[in-house]
Amino acid sequence: MTALSLTVNDTRVAAEVAPRTSLADFLRDRQLLTGTHLGCEHGVCGACTVMIDGAPARSCIALAVTCEGAQVRTIEGFDDDALMARLREAFGAEHALQCGYCTPGMMIAAHDIVRRLAQADEARIRVELSGNLCRCTGYAGIVHAIRRVIEDGAD
Ligand code: FES
Ligand code: FES
Repeated sequence: MTALSLTVNDTRVAAEVAPRTSLADFLRDRQLLTGTHLGCEHGVCGACTVMIDGAPARSCIALAVTCEGAQVRTIEGFDDDALMARLREAFGAEHALQCGYCTPGMMIAAHDIVRRLAQADEARIRVELSGNLCRCTGYAGIVHAIRRVIEDGAD
């Protein structure tokens, strides 16, 4: 086991973890933050997307021990975030989810897109979202939801 110390959703966390433990398993099984979903578990689908030190990352292929000292933010850490609240509303209005399995990762990716790309058009949003797969929606609603929030302007 290896000692691990990091910040998860603004809370300092210290734990002993097996070196092979993924960040996703650490968050879900040890921190009980089950909003981080696991789909492919090999870095393809984006369901496990979290923020690590301010950038989106796939927690299924990040080893927990490599996050020593990092700031990790999961979907639960966005509960009080004003931009995420706008995205939640837009996802609902645009029917941007069906089963919801991809949605936590999709919303973290969407939050990152809106923050970085105030001028993003539909084509750019689709490129930026290409690392997040959805089996249900056909993507149109997701893209429209992000576009709606971008058009409504920054917070
Ligand atoms: S579960 Fe991590 S990318 Fe699919
Ligand atoms: S809403 Fe079902 S996978 Fe995206």
